[in-house]
Amino acid sequence: MTKLWGGRFKKPFDDDAARFSYSIQSDKVLYPYDIAVNTAHALALMGAGILTAEEHSKITNALAKIKFEMDQCIDEMIQGDEDIHSCVERLLILELGDLGKKIHTGKSRNDQVITDTRMFVKDRCCTILDLLDALLKALYTQAAANIDRIFPGFTHFQTAQPVLLAHHFLAYFEQFERDLGRFRQAYKSADLCPLGSGALAGNNYGLNRELIARELNFSGVTRNSMDAVADRDFLIEFLSASALCMTHLSRLSEELVLWSSPLIDFVTIGDEFTTGSSIMPQKKNPDIAELIRGKSGRVLGNLTGMLATIKALPLTYNRDLQEDKVFLFDSAATVTDSLRCMAKMIPTLTFNPAPIAAALEKGYILATDFADYLVKRGVPFRESHEITGQVVLYAETHGRPLESLSLDEFRQFSTVISDDVYAVLTLEASVNAKDVPGGTAKRQVLNQMQHIKERFQW
Ligand code: ARG
Repeated sequence: MTKLWGGRFKKPFDDDAARFSYSIQSDKVLYPYDIAVNTAHALALMGAGILTAEEHSKITNALAKIKFEMDQCIDEMIQGDEDIHSCVERLLILELGDLGKKIHTGKSRNDQVITDTRMFVKDRCCTILDLLDALLKALYTQAAANIDRIFPGFTHFQTAQPVLLAHHFLAYFEQFERDLGRFRQAYKSADLCPLGSGALAGNNYGLNRELIARELNFSGVTRNSMDAVADRDFLIEFLSASALCMTHLSRLSEELVLWSSPLIDFVTIGDEFTTGSSIMPQKKNPDIAELIRGKSGRVLGNLTGMLATIKALPLTYNRDLQEDKVFLFDSAATVTDSLRCMAKMIPTLTFNPAPIAAALEKGYILATDFADYLVKRGVPFRESHEITGQVVLYAETHGRPLESLSLDEFRQFSTVISDDVYAVLTLEASVNAKDVPGGTAKRQVLNQMQHIKERFQW
């Protein structure tokens, strides 16, 4: 095993302690960032007169070669290294001999690892923002395709009021649009370069931090070296954005699981995103939706785990912080994969008119509109609510829908009722009566869709 330290020790590091503490198997994914960080650092070392131009070019060429080889097969390059930083440095020394031993001048793994991690977070935010964009487009497309489809809206998972299915899709649109904002913020928070902070106090070589930041495509440098190596806020913001995004994905998945059950049967999920059973030939299971729902639990756990890990740490770097990447990599991969699947699954949904129509007939979904009708004829709402309850009970007792009652039957409950009540007791009238901003009236939903087009410049 090769280590970056050892001079002050008499006995070798215990094998189990080594296995316990080495992070290479998880942090190897940082190698492209670590090479870039070393490359930018070499430039700053040349600027500070630590490396000659010739030495600098030898080092950058060697780093490019190592990167190329790692691209082929990173696992073959790892040989008992503690972490990715030790691995890259060992390979550089293997390549260049004594010259390679100069690369760690004026830097610490403490500022290096967090620079790598910030770059990783920025890249993943970009990928996630693209996937969110694809998901938003898919939801918008379903909304557009279902602008005339009336759907049962639920509260307490009991039939409540009719809504446009488009409105339902756009409710998810709102959630994922907010996620977009949160991942943009996580990107911004990650976008400051800590390199040059050294172990905790800064460096003794006057390294040009602005130059390093520019080379690594950061928009600025961190302001306090102690905070720079101890801070994981940007990472927690990323984990938090991931947790909330997974929560939204999970709620949507839950609806797809319910809606696609033969008991409800509102929707059919495309074959591409369902699975069969090894024993029951008739089954078509919504496994992908279930897995998104299931995996969201782990992503929520990662946020809690990270907060618990950091909460009692004194300044500055503590080895506990190595655990941050376990949470980070898992959440990044899970949210990315989940978004990708959801964005592809949404376009495969087809809606089944008969079960939807049957559900709309059940549950006296127009009762509130009936109560509103009485209010418009001067009955105070609390009273109209009571009357409507009695009408619903009467209809239910006779096993009939509201709109099938005769005028005489209605007038037993209130004499303000006249013939025009039947025009109110239709699904279309109910939906279009919700003509307020944010309401489900077709005019309002179309208006929201227009705003979306403008906001996103689609
Ligand atoms: N593998 C370590 C981590 O991920 C790198 C930093 C190690 N620093 C140290 N002082 N041992 O946190």
